[in-house]
Amino acid sequence: MERQSKIVVGVAGGIAAYKACHLIRNFKETGDDVWVVPTASALNFVGKATFEALSGNPVSTTVFEAVDEVRHVKIGQEADLVVVAPATADFMARVAAGRGDDLLSATLLVATCPVVLAPAMHTEMWLNPATQANVATLRSRGITVLEPAHGRLTGKDSGPGRLTEPEQIAELARTVLAGHRLDRTLEGKKVVISAGGTQEAIDPVRYVGNRSSGKQGFALAEIAAHKGAEVTIVAGATDKLDCPSGARIVKVVSAREMREAMLEHSADADVVIMAAAVADYRPETVASSKLKKGAADNQLDTINLVENPDILRELVATRDGGGLKEGAKIVGFAAETGDETHSALDFARIKIQKKGCDLLMCNDVSEGKVFGKSSNEGFILSKSGDVREVTAGPKNEVAAQIIEALEEIL
Ligand code: CTP
Repeated sequence: MERQSKIVVGVAGGIAAYKACHLIRNFKETGDDVWVVPTASALNFVGKATFEALSGNPVSTTVFEAVDEVRHVKIGQEADLVVVAPATADFMARVAAGRGDDLLSATLLVATCPVVLAPAMHTEMWLNPATQANVATLRSRGITVLEPAHGRLTGKDSGPGRLTEPEQIAELARTVLAGHRLDRTLEGKKVVISAGGTQEAIDPVRYVGNRSSGKQGFALAEIAAHKGAEVTIVAGATDKLDCPSGARIVKVVSAREMREAMLEHSADADVVIMAAAVADYRPETVASSKLKKGAADNQLDTINLVENPDILRELVATRDGGGLKEGAKIVGFAAETGDETHSALDFARIKIQKKGCDLLMCNDVSEGKVFGKSSNEGFILSKSGDVREVTAGPKNEVAAQIIEALEEIL
């Protein structure tokens, strides 16, 4: 069983404080020991009793409560992770200045564990040079400051400043807790990622498709965006997924639409990732009206398929032909099994050569798993022949490992 982590959830005084309740529940559901430290103004939005009931631990806001326990030092010293959501402009200013004038800021002064701040405020406050300077200071000290989401704020306005969804904050915070850094290594880079499955129309209501959820592509987008990249997701059919903070989504349906969108948006990209499950074939003809079962022309009994373009290979050819930015890195995906004579890794080695991409994330889907480890998710191969194992874990943690491999070749 995994070790229980001691997680401090800090809550600063903003309207998004109510969302901290979902974050606390999320951590509690995975069995973590959660200590909530609100600022005094956070209690204007959510009562102390709510935080105590949800966390199962006492809650105080000042260093003058439970003085005999030296709580302001103890909480910070014992924490495995501190997450502050929402982090307001004022709170970040106090932390950047090294203040310790309440229990939460004092806890941050003491903590040596990873610290994640999830900002929430009006767009003007977020973009204010003072806030941006404070964020830069905090990041330079190794604190992870997540990008706020774009969207509806309190009142009628909308823009960057919305709190990232609690589930996304929890997943990102766990990624940081697992040892992955969300530092700003992709600042200034443009990253284009395909995600989900394509749907190939048979007639106006039917299609040929696949079960891809799009989660891995979205997780890559999420990690890349929080590392400072400008991210575009070209999404086919996916599960209902939250748009990663700051990322842009271009919706497509078929493989041919995906090809067009990928070629268009990749033209000035630094990194292109093909995480989508592209249908290899499509119906040769698409009926303009719904086909009828048992019709004399048999159109539904036999569907002729024709091959779809291989987008990944075309992207590589385009780059080498000068269409993509010079030095752009291209990442492919593959799911492989071994057979009697070859391992999944052998097939992955053949595939990276065939596709010509710089990195290939290969999911080993053999039953016995290569290297005999049940924890083995797969491996990342590079064009130069390097192979690194990817440890099993949530898609965000797999995404972080792929981005780390990418950073090495960028
Ligand atoms: N891919 C693509 N265009 C296609 C098919 C696949 O761009 N028409 C991309 C996928 O997004 C993935 C990589 O190619 O990044 C490998 O996909 P996979 O289905 O494993 O490759 P195939 O060439 O179809 O090989 P296989 O015969 O093993 O299915």
